[in-house]
Amino acid sequence: MAPSRVSPDPTSSETPLGLTKKQIDSFKRDGYLIIPSYLSPETCRTLLSKTHELLRDFPLEDHPMTRFTTGTDGNGDSTSAKHVGDDYFLTSGDKVRFFFEEDAFDPATGALNKPKERAINKIGHNLHGLVPEFGHVSHAGEFGRRNAAVARDLGYRDPRLLQSMVICKQPEIGGAVPPHQDSTFLYTKPPSAVGFWIALEDATVENGCLSFAPGSHRRAPIKERFVRRPDGQGTTFESVPEEDGQWPRDFEHEDIEPGTPHKEEYVLGEVKAGSLVLIHGNILHKSEKNTSQKTRIIYTFHLIEGEEHYDEKNWLQVPGGTEQFTKLDGKA
Ligand code: FE2
Repeated sequence: MAPSRVSPDPTSSETPLGLTKKQIDSFKRDGYLIIPSYLSPETCRTLLSKTHELLRDFPLEDHPMTRFTTGTDGNGDSTSAKHVGDDYFLTSGDKVRFFFEEDAFDPATGALNKPKERAINKIGHNLHGLVPEFGHVSHAGEFGRRNAAVARDLGYRDPRLLQSMVICKQPEIGGAVPPHQDSTFLYTKPPSAVGFWIALEDATVENGCLSFAPGSHRRAPIKERFVRRPDGQGTTFESVPEEDGQWPRDFEHEDIEPGTPHKEEYVLGEVKAGSLVLIHGNILHKSEKNTSQKTRIIYTFHLIEGEEHYDEKNWLQVPGGTEQFTKLDGKA
């Protein structure tokens, strides 16, 4: 079936590409930036419809029933516990795979307690490369140019798109995500990750919108990273030595004496469908469980700086190595 068209959206020839100085300053100060109406309602509908099609069509028969456990590490995958299907997760970098909500299973029987399309937490990690509708709001076409201009304004020299996901946050069971920093999970030496997070539906306090600790990206170093276990048995966390880089290159951060108590204050990031949220890799953010009757479907992809070092310890690997991470140069 031919992919449905994704319209170029609100950009017109007179709209400048990239961020304004005010937006750049705001991102530098707060560590995140909300840009309303980045996608048109029509494009949101197209991406939602594709999401529902993927959820409907994936086969359950050969699925290892891998769960996305948010209670342990914030990005969702196993730490001490070995989960069935670790391999399904670890080899997902160049595929489109489906990860279940932790609460989608009956604890007594282990059977799914929801229809499969209401049980998936996330789809990843190569939607941008394999599903044209998502590629067209990531690195390709008009949005490729827009996103490349945003990346340039954030200071990237060789932005590489290394993963993409739809997160469904299902009604009643969509899991909470504890405070975390994305660079823990997508670590370069030194850190360079930024998330592009796009709401395809309204994200509200009821359905588990994000919350941010403004400015925490300047206070919170990346002290640990999520890696493959050397014995090949899943994943774990490893400390990041200061000399490897806990802050992005040339980054003005606050030096807080070790042991100084500092309680971060979180603010809600409620956004309308179509909003783009840029998320600095060092900022602390979280979301609560979705206890409402509504989904909270979002599309997100992450960039790293291609000139920084991405090593083989990282959980996310693609065949052919990191040169294969998609260039965001506005030419695709
Ligand atoms: Fe995150």
